[in-house]
Amino acid sequence: MKTVLAGQHLVSPYCLVSLTPHGDERGKLISIESFRNISFGIKRFYYIYDTDPDWVRGKHAHSNLEQLVIAIDGACRFVLDTGKVREEIWLNRPNIALYIGKYVWREMHDFSYGCKLLVLASEYYQPEEYIRTYDNFIQLAKEQK
Ligand code: TYD
Repeated sequence: MKTVLAGQHLVSPYCLVSLTPHGDERGKLISIESFRNISFGIKRFYYIYDTDPDWVRGKHAHSNLEQLVIAIDGACRFVLDTGKVREEIWLNRPNIALYIGKYVWREMHDFSYGCKLLVLASEYYQPEEYIRTYDNFIQLAKEQK
């Protein structure tokens, strides 16, 4: 999976983004700014917590949403699927974010206890833009090419 530095062009359909921590002896701080170190405007953020290793989340794609996902604490395994390529990645470092563009099927597995995922999203919550079945996703992904 490609890794780009924050501020560089985000590689579609998904890529890892290396964020620069501002750190000193007091600890570390990472700042993310719309159109400055990520290429989309942030309209919403949400976070996932109280997770359990036995449960799988996600299992959908988006027709009109870009997201940046950061494991600010703990780890989980992402499955990313474009309809042509399927890849897995462990997200487990607060300075390495995962960018996910449109028409990418994603699943989150193997959450560590206490895992906290922060998600920055380019659009408000719109349930109607979700693609919720894998078969439908494959069909729509084909039509995008
Ligand atoms: P869901 O999409 O199932 O989460 P995940 O992608 O992690 O599997 O969302 C869980 C619930 O939260 C569901 O009832 C929809 C609601 N929700 C919102 O109200 N606003 C949001 O921004 C998101 C992402 C979800």
